[in-house]
Amino acid sequence: MRIDIISVLPELMQSPFETSILKRAVDKGLAEIHFHQIRDFGKGKHRQIDDEPYGGGAGMVMMIEPLDLCISELKSQREYDEIIYLTPDGITLNQKIANTLSIQKNLIFLCGHYKGIDQRIRELHITKEISIGDYVLTGGELAACVLADSIIRLLPGVLNDEQSALTDSFQDNLLSPPIYTRPAEYKGLKVPEILLSGNSKKIEEWLHDQAVSTTQEKRPDILK
Ligand code: ADE
Repeated sequence: MRIDIISVLPELMQSPFETSILKRAVDKGLAEIHFHQIRDFGKGKHRQIDDEPYGGGAGMVMMIEPLDLCISELKSQREYDEIIYLTPDGITLNQKIANTLSIQKNLIFLCGHYKGIDQRIRELHITKEISIGDYVLTGGELAACVLADSIIRLLPGVLNDEQSALTDSFQDNLLSPPIYTRPAEYKGLKVPEILLSGNSKKIEEWLHDQAVSTTQEKRPDILK
């Protein structure tokens, strides 16, 4: 999978892809991340990329031309499955969206800044608008990292044990059951007996029941 990320602050997004599982995905060639500085497509000597909003109001708006030039250049090089704008007014990211995007080949993420982008760039190029939650960040960069992480960990070969992505919380509309590791007792706190029993069928049933009750308690809204 190839992801092109367009931003005024690409440096903000380097480290998540240089660490841990995302780094492994990049090193193995399973995910290619390319950053593009919008300012390189800015207008004039000062490489202007933003201007005042028509109709007045506070904040600057990202201009259509630099964004169009950048996206058009990418589109002339390959076909993109989705061109995604990270924005608080998009659809809220969930596991289903991450699953769907993880089977695509080429994606563009556009990170907004300032007050947002000229509406016409949405009409011209954007195929999907995604929010990572009902709060406002200073830009789309952190949201782009969250979205990329949620997708890349699903690519075959990224996780050591492929099962582990399939058993993630949300994959079957259930949260994960509680998990434990050694020691079996710590300061009087015991690991549930059943997990020490070695009876894998019983353990599986118990884990499922726990997943259901945890979901019922914490997120009844996702329980089908
Ligand atoms: N940009 C600013 N806030 C955002 C959010 N909540 N989700 C995605 N992009 C954003």
